[in-house]
Amino acid sequence: MDVEKRIHELRRLLQKHAHLYYDLADPLISDGEYDQLFNELVRLEEEHPELVVPDSPTQRPGGAPLDKFEQVVHRLPMLSLKNASSADDLIKFEKKLLLFLKPNITLDALSYMAEPKIDGLAVELIYEKGRLLQGSTRGDGNTGEDITAQVKTISSIPLQLHNQLDSRFTQRLEVRGEVFLDRNTFIKINHELIQREEPLFANPRNAAAGSLRQLDPAITAQRSLKFLAYGVADPSQTPCSTQHELLSWLESLGLPVSELTRVCPSLADVFTRFDQLAALRHTLPYEIDGMVVKVDNLSLQQRLGNKTIAPLWAIACKFPPLQATTILNKVDFQVGRTGAITPVALLKSVELGGVMVSRATLYNYNDFNRKDLRVGDTVLIQRAGDVIPEVVKAIVEKRDGSEAPIIMPAQCPVCTHGLLKPAGEAVTRCVNPHCPAQRLHSLIHFTSKAGLDIEGLGKKSMAQLFTLELVRDIPDIFTLDRDQLAGLEGWGDKSADKVMVAIQAAKQPPLGKFLGALGIRFVGEVNASRLEQRFPSLQQLMDTSMEALLEIEGIGKQAACSIVDYFSDPTVRAMFARLQQAGVTPEAGRRKSLEEQPLSGQVFLFTGTLATLSREEAKKLVKDQGGQIAATVTQKMTHLVAGEKAGSKLTKAKELGKIILTEHEFLRMLHH
Ligand code: IVH
Repeated sequence: MDVEKRIHELRRLLQKHAHLYYDLADPLISDGEYDQLFNELVRLEEEHPELVVPDSPTQRPGGAPLDKFEQVVHRLPMLSLKNASSADDLIKFEKKLLLFLKPNITLDALSYMAEPKIDGLAVELIYEKGRLLQGSTRGDGNTGEDITAQVKTISSIPLQLHNQLDSRFTQRLEVRGEVFLDRNTFIKINHELIQREEPLFANPRNAAAGSLRQLDPAITAQRSLKFLAYGVADPSQTPCSTQHELLSWLESLGLPVSELTRVCPSLADVFTRFDQLAALRHTLPYEIDGMVVKVDNLSLQQRLGNKTIAPLWAIACKFPPLQATTILNKVDFQVGRTGAITPVALLKSVELGGVMVSRATLYNYNDFNRKDLRVGDTVLIQRAGDVIPEVVKAIVEKRDGSEAPIIMPAQCPVCTHGLLKPAGEAVTRCVNPHCPAQRLHSLIHFTSKAGLDIEGLGKKSMAQLFTLELVRDIPDIFTLDRDQLAGLEGWGDKSADKVMVAIQAAKQPPLGKFLGALGIRFVGEVNASRLEQRFPSLQQLMDTSMEALLEIEGIGKQAACSIVDYFSDPTVRAMFARLQQAGVTPEAGRRKSLEEQPLSGQVFLFTGTLATLSREEAKKLVKDQGGQIAATVTQKMTHLVAGEKAGSKLTKAKELGKIILTEHEFLRMLHH
């Protein structure tokens, strides 16, 4: 193909994939494949500089801003980093630095800062006179999106900097850093998506992007995002002379910075640190995808300067991806709670990041069809975060002709009923409401953590009880016989007693929790709590109309239809009658609205070491009762809870005449 054509094609592909990755948080290809395309374009443009245009992806980092957010032009562009993929690349990087800085700077005058490269989203936070004025995404590097409301929901981002510092430097400060999700939250979000049978986020970065770029900041707030600062737009406007001082300075202002940064006096130390971080990687509560190496001295950074998309004074060393190749032996089709048919790849066992993997999700028909996978293929698999592994692609070159296409079943593999794939939907469903697989999964959902959380009735026990026909539908759970249970295989007196207690305790669930457990389509956790807020009792919800449901904010047509359909089904009504007979009465009564809660309008800050509570527990107690948490001592803060060794925050709060509580007083106040 002619070079110019290929360049155009590469630009088009890169733009498309950057859009899917950055804007829609739904990538089609792996990072490695993207890098390959990108590197090919870089190479071709280097060979043909006459073909370089300013809007080539090689000249602009990241994706373009979405137009639904206000746009923000960065005063100084937010750059990207060049990647080093081998030790050799780092050696070249150092050679280039010396070449550039010679003759007055020699090797021993050069020191580096090694920082973890957190896998999240770059953001800029603008503070004016110490107050958080604006937050924005990187966007294309020059123009990003205004996400001020969203970043304000991130508890580790201070709304007010500590202002005991020299005001010359804190008039306007453009802080840069990474917003990210910890691994557990990422897994939790994906589990919720699995429950709702929606497409999963491929990795924590996409989940963080998806969470941050929510027009409704309330959704961002639910996602417990975190932030770590790694720099400022213009270090010359700070009192610092090195990157490591800069990070300490940011920390002294109240901004969170990583504890994993290290000064490395030589390249040898950089290598050592890389190995250490690579080993630490899996033990961290969040994903890091590499290490960033920066020239530590800020005036040298300035002398080295920037190229169009990346600085000359820094480089990113990526960790190898958690990928492996294996054989796709068979594809199984599983039937989910809502009848969705999910293809699962059964693989020849292979080690991936320390774990043996023999299954991977194929998401849905469109997914394996687009990837053109065949049984017998050698496939590339990867684990994104710690979630279920996925098949990235087939290694087509390894085919010998014996591979067979994957055929989507025409009937439900469990009940043989016909399947339906609604136009425009990715999911194929079994539409038989009596399909045993759907019934079992609904029952599993009902007792699971996402449902009523009945301990002892996990997936395995429910499958056993279902197979033995001891539990055929939800009411059967509440009429289980203790002695019968105790006599079953794998059970005994102790486990049976325990389960009976748990079942008893589940008989008066909060209405919202109960509704979520039923697994009504389009009624997940969020809609269930909306319904709970609106309806004082289950009966009133059962008797409601489509119109009344549509008046509830956030309940759309699909959900309203599904709710009305559900409650008008005679078998559902009969089920509720049996539940009532069995003593199951969802707790009537509205959950208190925010204003009615005991701590509403109060803003708490914790300082020093608490004796009985962890910080997280203490914060949760406040939030559960409608209170808010402050990041630092400000006018807005109403109570300071001071533990052992409380320091400057206590002094400051006293100066401002705020209420000061001991941990004991705090707990007493909550229980009042
Ligand atoms: S410095 C001009 N430091 O990596 C310097 N970036 O391609 C630019 N990242 O999305 C960034 N951890 O958000 C820097 N310690 C760190 C970082 C870091 C993660 C991200 C950054 C950007 C990407 C660079």
